Amino acid sequence: MDADEFRQRGKEVIDFIADYLTNIRSRRVFPNVKPGYMRPMIADEAPKQGEPWENIFNDIDRVIMPGITHWESPYMHAYFPALNSYPSLLGDMLANGLNQIGFTWASSPACTELETVVMDWLAKMIGLPNDFLHSQADTTGGGVIQTTASEATLVALLAARKEVIRRIQSQFPYLSPAEINGRLIAYCSDQAHSSVEKACLIGLVKLHLVPSDDKLRLRGNALRQAIANDKENGLIPFYLCATLGTTGACAFDNLVELGPVCEREHIWIHVDAAYAGSAFICPEFRQLMNGVEFTQSFAFNPSKWMMVHFDCTAMWVKSSAALHRAFNVDPLYLQHENAGVAIDYMVMSIDQ
Ligand SMILES: Cc1ncc(COP(=O)(O)O)c(C=O)c1O
Repeated sequence: MDADEFRQRGKEVIDFIADYLTNIRSRRVFPNVKPGYMRPMIADEAPKQGEPWENIFNDIDRVIMPGITHWESPYMHAYFPALNSYPSLLGDMLANGLNQIGFTWASSPACTELETVVMDWLAKMIGLPNDFLHSQADTTGGGVIQTTASEATLVALLAARKEVIRRIQSQFPYLSPAEINGRLIAYCSDQAHSSVEKACLIGLVKLHLVPSDDKLRLRGNALRQAIANDKENGLIPFYLCATLGTTGACAFDNLVELGPVCEREHIWIHVDAAYAGSAFICPEFRQLMNGVEFTQSFAFNPSKWMMVHFDCTAMWVKSSAALHRAFNVDPLYLQHENAGVAIDYMVMSIDQ
């Protein structure tokens, strides 16, 4: 495909998307197909010769559409809202065209600088404390875009694990990281998303599912009791994933009660507000995040309620230094003269 054909086909694809979204109400939301429906409809082997674009594009209606779940339909009420918008689609098209890879500041300065500024805007929009802002001079706080809320939960857990291992080793230098890791225990309510369990599986740490109250919220006393039992059994509490807006019932854990308990025990609190975080843009809902000042990290998904398409998770930490310690690698080929002055997002995330 050359540039002239790209111009033509690009316009056709835009028309196709606009027609699809305009007429989406007339489609059945969940497809009526069985597992394996697609295999007989397409070739067994990848074609050795390229095919004309028309053939490929016709397959969208013939092969793909029959198996599509129409997440953008106003009649889609399963899972969670995952709405995009025309500006989001255009932004993604531009991002694909420019194809930026921003693991360090030097790998594309504008990419890093835009992320830094916009993450501060977003933090202010939802009323996060100033400690989470890049522009706050006396902290190392700041925001980073992760792919998913599940990844943010894991990133926070790995940072918390690094911090607790450092702290325990400073008191008991003869204990190895593996010995300490084997005694670590994380907490969440019995309503938390399954990604917390997965993060613990990956991090090789135990997880205590603490019973929620009659309104499905995690409360201070229940956590205090769980911690006391676990410490009696020789375990080391280090991480709480509190949920603001649970998957099942949109319940809100009580940070005002949980905060002081965790502060006393040096427990990192990560807030998973994947689903409901966008609601904090409205000042009238902000009381549901009272106690957020006690937390070390916070994440929500603009890809759920902010009409930014999947996937996009906004995550903030109070101490980007903790993420640096967890993810610090320094290969020769990524070094640059502004390292240490500029942000290198690779040390705030898993990739690279
Ligand atoms: C509270 C909560 N946390 C985490 C997730 C997982 O989000 P993601 O797909 O971004 O990992 C969900 C998804 O619905 C959720 O409701």
